[in-house]
Order: sequence, then C-alpha cells, then structure tokens
Amino acid sequence: MFEIEQFVADCHTALGETQPSLALKELLERTVERDRDIVAAVGEPAGADLTVLHAAADLTVLNAVWAPRMNLYPHNHNMLAVIGIYGGQEDNTFWRRQAPGLVVNGGTELHVRDAAILGPNVIHSVANPRRAYTAAIHVYAGDYLHAERSEWDPETLEERPFDFENARRVFADANAAWQREQATLGAGGR
Ligand SMILES: [Fe+2]
Repeated sequence: MFEIEQFVADCHTALGETQPSLALKELLERTVERDRDIVAAVGEPAGADLTVLHAAADLTVLNAVWAPRMNLYPHNHNMLAVIGIYGGQEDNTFWRRQAPGLVVNGGTELHVRDAAILGPNVIHSVANPRRAYTAAIHVYAGDYLHAERSEWDPETLEERPFDFENARRVFADANAAWQREQATLGAGGR
C-alpha cells in the first residue's frame, strides 16, 4: 500500500540521514518496486501532468505523468532531487553551461522500478520515448514550487527564470497532441 503521509514521513527520515541522497534513493527504489500499489493510490496515468502530492519548505513530492513522446526543455532545480519510475520510461539528458547557452553532458534512460539521484547543480531535460504514459514520483529536498531556478529555451538554449505554469502548458499541449493522434488513429481504423 502506498500512502502519501507515510511516504512523506519516510522522506523526512531519509533527509535526516548522514547521506540523504542515498537514503532517498533507497526509499524510492523500495517504493517503485511496488509500482501497482502507487497506481492503486494515485490512479492509472490518464493524462500528462505534474501533480503536487506534498509541498513544504523542506520537501516537495510530485506525481509526474509524461505523455507519449513528450519532451520538457532543459531546467534545473537548485536542490537535491530523486526520481523513481513506476511506469514507462523517462529519458534524461544532462546539460552543462557553456556560454552563451548549454551543451549536452550525458544522459540516462530510467525504466520502471529505477530510481536516480539528481544533484543540486544538475540541469536536465526529460523525454518519454514510448507510445504510452510514463509515470514517476519526484522528490525534491526543498520548496520546488517557489525556489528560484532556471529553464532554457528548447530552440535557442537561452536561460530564463523557471515558470511552473509554462511547464504545465507543455504537459497540456502534449496531452492535446496525444489525444489528437489517438482520435486520428481511431477514425482511420473504422
Ligand atoms: Fe526536473
């Protein structure tokens, strides 16, 4: 059984450990091992969105659902983040600053039941390469919704202040594109 209150308590315990990032990763690994329990608690992924499960000054927990083949532009968090995948696949591209913008600095594929640590200085972009939703629990060791941080224009790689509403628009647009595609396929199949 996945209960957000218990999960938040477990995150606080992990944050108090001598190596919080490793403790959080172990917690996420244990949590996404029971991927069906998470689905039972938060529902089957039915649309891309960033849903806030817990928001406080010291800890933010999001349920991130990525639409098929969607991309989110490079951004940073300026705080420790740990990601656990409970459905699909999340491809992370890592970037580093290089005037006047960014250059790619590696990447990793995260599959269902994987967990990964993103250090406070990480800049990443995220893609769902699959034709199905990807679902993940994202834990941030801070006030993710209000912290000052950056996003980079996906075309020009120009830095600008992160805008949560802008990110949610990307999710909404990806939903609309996927629904249009499904409608077209459905119409063509009849
Ligand atoms: Fe991120």
